[in-house]
Amino acid sequence: MSLNVELLEQSFEQIKPSANEFVSTFYTTLFENYPDAASLFANTDMAKQKKKLLNALVLVIQNLRKPEVLNSALRGLGAKHIAYGTLPEHYPLVGITLIKTFEFYLGKDWTPELQQAWADAYDAIAALMLEGASYSEEAIKLTL
Ligand code: HEM
Repeated sequence: MSLNVELLEQSFEQIKPSANEFVSTFYTTLFENYPDAASLFANTDMAKQKKKLLNALVLVIQNLRKPEVLNSALRGLGAKHIAYGTLPEHYPLVGITLIKTFEFYLGKDWTPELQQAWADAYDAIAALMLEGASYSEEAIKLTL
């Protein structure tokens, strides 16, 4: 994958001081816009979940230059998501929400280049997670 590593790292550094608020806003926005996705978190301890998401984002950013680490971590994370009820069709919803959240926190520093950098990064993340998840033909057809 050819990602704009510098831009991704830089923008993540910028949101780091507000990282906890960032993940809170992410889930609030996701749940408001996509109640179906929200229902998957009905029994989730959201305080813990926010930390887990933040840790996953940190892991991704820290390993952008180590594709072997990133590939196996994200395939493993994707495999776990089958048990959470996550379907392939949910991935774009999370991607759109993540980008909206970045846009909100970066304000005037949000640029079309950053938007592209994060869209490419999310596509690569989601592709690896879905690779690890080996969904059935039926689940994949549901998304078409
Ligand atoms: C970039 C994409 C994603 C990342 C980085 C991510 C990250 C994570 C992490 C780190 C966990 C905790 C795993 C653990 O406990 O070991 C988790 C759990 C979960 N994720 Fe995701 N996730 C992603 C996409 C999605 C999508 C698309 C959905 C569907 C809406 C989703 C729904 C869930 C649910 C329901 C759980 C389980 C919560 C619980 O423990 O009750 N995730 N995710």
